[in-house]
Amino acid sequence: MKLTIIGTGYVGLVTGTCFAEVGHQVICVDRDENKVKLLKSGGMPIYEPGLQELVQKNVASGNLSFTNSTVEGVEKSDVIFIAVPTPSMNDGSVDLSFIELVAREIAAAMTSYKIVVDKSTVPVKTGEKVSETIKRYCKAKVEFDVVSNPEFLREGFAVDDFMKPDRVVIGVLTQRPVAAMKEVYEPFNAPIIFTDINSAELIKHAANSFLALKISYINAVSQICEASGANVQEVANGMGMDLRIGRKFLDASLGFGGSCFPKDLSAFIHISEELGYDFALLREVQKINSEQMNRFVKKIIETLWVVKDKTIGVLGLAFKQNTDDVRMSPALDLCLRLQKEGARLRVHDPKAMEKAKAVLKDVIYVDDMNDVADGCDALIIATEWPEFKKLDLERARKALTHPILFDGRNLFDVEEMEKLGFIYKSIGRGR
Ligand code: UDX
Repeated sequence: MKLTIIGTGYVGLVTGTCFAEVGHQVICVDRDENKVKLLKSGGMPIYEPGLQELVQKNVASGNLSFTNSTVEGVEKSDVIFIAVPTPSMNDGSVDLSFIELVAREIAAAMTSYKIVVDKSTVPVKTGEKVSETIKRYCKAKVEFDVVSNPEFLREGFAVDDFMKPDRVVIGVLTQRPVAAMKEVYEPFNAPIIFTDINSAELIKHAANSFLALKISYINAVSQICEASGANVQEVANGMGMDLRIGRKFLDASLGFGGSCFPKDLSAFIHISEELGYDFALLREVQKINSEQMNRFVKKIIETLWVVKDKTIGVLGLAFKQNTDDVRMSPALDLCLRLQKEGARLRVHDPKAMEKAKAVLKDVIYVDDMNDVADGCDALIIATEWPEFKKLDLERARKALTHPILFDGRNLFDVEEMEKLGFIYKSIGRGR
């Protein structure tokens, strides 16, 4: 099929590339000329495992192309996907101005029937607004259908998630776009659920908020574990074996971050409020998340007593493993808070150091994770990168002035760390 994706951020670029990979003819549109130039020359604006190779392969095969022109994208394709950012406003609501702008541009460019699919995460009832906008701005007065097709991609695993989705959600208003949407997703052999547009939009916010709730739940349990001397990992393992609960997303941590959960939670709370429901449960999820970080910082301060002028090593800056993304990163937040306390920082991240440099200044960026501990008074693990499990612990213990390790991601075994001579403080494991 001939498909156009408007917006080449994390979602748009992965979507376009994976559609091309399964044989569709894909045009990716972005108004950022530099980005389009970079992509055309085989470069990558983001780090996402496996993506660059896939882009290069599909550009070479002719299935994937890039342009600045929405008109070209709309003219040449039957199905147009909108994948532009929907950032948070200060009050937690969603800024839909990019969606509105793209809807107007599509409307102005349409000369024949098109299916306009929203992939960006949007509040319920946005599809209705997009439809009204296109109707208003389409001079040619051609027919069209608006469809909602929310993405569920995790950064760092986005290509895999796209190629092997648990489910594909498609919200439609009429039957007309159904056959085409089935054809678009047919190569993925995934279960497709068709709903009305409002339900599809709600599924996205409800799913992400539920996942955030699951993390906050286990983080709250981690506090009870610390107060009682229980072990949160054992509790999570036991809970997770109940198939109704499942073990995934029960890893206690210093809190969830990233560009989705914090934003989607705020948005869902805001939308609910506008619709007359006070979603107090989700406000509590947010509260637990920020308290989790406060408690971790408190633990560091209590252990070191005076943080001012201490040198602290921090492993991890990205908001989670497998990404260079530092937006709403708990790790970065932690660094900034320690700096405020007067600490000097030596930091390392396998992929996120370049992006962190724009936000985190006056720290020493260390290339090799094993060199971070040199001359430090304490070491912190802030991101769950699997390579940190391979840290040379013997070397770290010797390099630290005192062998204190704060593990915000529970990567190591408590007993083993104590045997190795560390003062080891993690989350929800022991008092
Ligand atoms: C999330 C959703 O998973 C995805 O479906 C949606 O489309 C976008 O938002 P993403 O933000 O990329 O994806 O990351 P995810 O892997 O879900 O992790 C989010 C945050 O939760 C990270 O900060 C991570 O470290 C944290 N987390 C995750 C925990 O603290 N504990 C867990 O058990 C799992």
